[in-house]
Amino acid sequence: MEIKRAQWSSHISFIIATVGSAVGLGNIWRFPYIMGKNGGGIFLLTYLLLIAFICIIPLCCELGLGKIYKQDAINTFNTINPKFKWLGWLCIITVTLIPCFYFVVGGWILNYIWVFLTSQLPQNFSIYFSQFSSQIFMPCFLTILFLIMTAMFPFKGINNGIEKANNIMMPLFTIILIILSLFALTLPGAKEGLIFMFKPDFSHFDKTMILTALGQALFTLSIGMGTILTYGSYMKENTNIVKSAYTLIICDTFIAVLAGIMIFPIVFSFGVEPSAGATLAFISMPQMFSQLPFGAFFGLIFFALLFFASITSGISMMETTIAAFIDNFNISRKKATIITTAIIAIISIPASLSFGLLSNFKILNKTVFDLLDYSTSNIFLPLNTLFICLIAGWFTPDFIKKVFGENFIAKIFYILLKFIVPLILICVLISGIN
Ligand code: PFF
Repeated sequence: MEIKRAQWSSHISFIIATVGSAVGLGNIWRFPYIMGKNGGGIFLLTYLLLIAFICIIPLCCELGLGKIYKQDAINTFNTINPKFKWLGWLCIITVTLIPCFYFVVGGWILNYIWVFLTSQLPQNFSIYFSQFSSQIFMPCFLTILFLIMTAMFPFKGINNGIEKANNIMMPLFTIILIILSLFALTLPGAKEGLIFMFKPDFSHFDKTMILTALGQALFTLSIGMGTILTYGSYMKENTNIVKSAYTLIICDTFIAVLAGIMIFPIVFSFGVEPSAGATLAFISMPQMFSQLPFGAFFGLIFFALLFFASITSGISMMETTIAAFIDNFNISRKKATIITTAIIAIISIPASLSFGLLSNFKILNKTVFDLLDYSTSNIFLPLNTLFICLIAGWFTPDFIKKVFGENFIAKIFYILLKFIVPLILICVLISGIN
């Protein structure tokens, strides 16, 4: 007996869920620090142009393939041509590997929530962070806790689990982000922070910066893993793909920019280097909060913000794998969730131990955590996205007509999809491997 495929209960729920997937640590943690390292305003400008004209294409491809075929990633590519089934698997492998390091960061977030909730603030967050992350038990335990908390939602299904989680957490997330940004704008470094963000300094404009911006754009939009394809497969028949894609892009970018507006004024007020890097969220920011009046409160809501962002993205990663297991192995949603959770748990433990016990265990000169992060973001994401564009553009019957229609704009999208975007992705890949 064929079970009817679940559907989002409304268009707005679909948009909230895809925004929940896209908005994550990539926006709040990665985007500001990468922008800080790449010259601020000029990076933002390049990123906006790339996202509006280039990334829109693979985004429409995934949404379109999801809407047309209404299947998980593996079956979608298999239906287009059984020769392409491997691409579905490649997407599933990628999307299963991402939570294995992403949830380690989720575990750190849980720890910081506890620290700020109990107001047990350490004197020096730099020492605290390296001591905490190098422990054996606690970081692993919190990673698994974060994993189980995330898994509870896909376990309950599309409407009762995923949709409800997003409909509650995303508005909360937006409110907290607005409160923190408004607060940051009252600080003495606000003007300097905003100038850094919005005034382009063309001396930073080079090939590496463009490629970094593109890599970040793919990661933040959750493209190249079949996630958006899977969420698209639950969309209603009358949903307009291009409009939905632009809505998603606008929301995701708005939140990333707001995250910058929250972070840079704080950074400049305390004289921290904006290029401080990945430790900005776990060392510099908590250190600054601990020195502010009501700092424990602001610190707590900052980590609550990171928590909501990461859990809604985590849900979408897990759902992609779960949907593939349900559709391909004919097992129940509950069983598929348990198997997915077990696989992620096993791989995430060595990733968590990369900061202590296994810090000297290196593959290709990288710890397990770094290898997972590097290989997924720099190799698999652009590679999968390239193949998705090629298959949608060259091998899917009537794809362009079905998704873009037949007007003048459709012709531009046609050229972008068939030639320009694949070429750019090849450049990203070559530079990512170097
Ligand atoms: N887009 C998410 C972020 O910006 O944090 C990351 C992500 C979500 C990657 C979902 C992969 C995925 F399937």
